[in-house]
Amino acid sequence: MNAAAVLSQPIALPPLPFDQGALAPVISANTLRFHYGKHHKTYVDTLNKLIVGTEFADMPLENIIRATSGHSDHTEIFNNAAQVWNHTFYWKCLKPKGGGEPPAELKRMMETSFGGVEECKKELSKAAVGQFGSGWAWLVQDGDKLKVLKTPDAENPLAHGPKPLLAVDVWEHAYYLDYQNRRVDHVNALIEELANWDFAAENLRKR
Ligand SMILES: [Fe+2]
Repeated sequence: MNAAAVLSQPIALPPLPFDQGALAPVISANTLRFHYGKHHKTYVDTLNKLIVGTEFADMPLENIIRATSGHSDHTEIFNNAAQVWNHTFYWKCLKPKGGGEPPAELKRMMETSFGGVEECKKELSKAAVGQFGSGWAWLVQDGDKLKVLKTPDAENPLAHGPKPLLAVDVWEHAYYLDYQNRRVDHVNALIEELANWDFAAENLRKR
């Protein structure tokens, strides 16, 4: 391996913020073993191979995503970079014994934007269940309002403006081992039992 290749390994697989068994039974250790240990790791490894020797080699991950979004000649780099970012973000959106009442500031914004916490959760669930095929559902901040979005495949809100607060992965690899075709049951259990509203509220304050 030459020196340039050694230097061009900027994208790391961050450790999971919880033990692999800590989200069971909603997300089993077996699902995490594949989802984090195989899928997320493969996105990281593939991205590092794709960017060696390119203009993207030394860019921060978010810059790679913004620079390649919508450019058909860089679709493969975009897909892998976005999936690395999406998964790193997604793990932080989950915590053992999550769900419950969101922190006050986030709760107030849910009330003004959706009419209440329950209404916000219903919108998020509807987007996650309604995303046709692989993709993501997002709670985002757009100015002084919250919105719910859904995106196909690796797409995320980063290149389009709204600030992501919370993500739900609805690729089948996120739930199929535990829920098979019952995406709705997985999504609702995730929102009720694992959603890390503290993390979502921290994102409100990020620039
Ligand atoms: Fe995933």
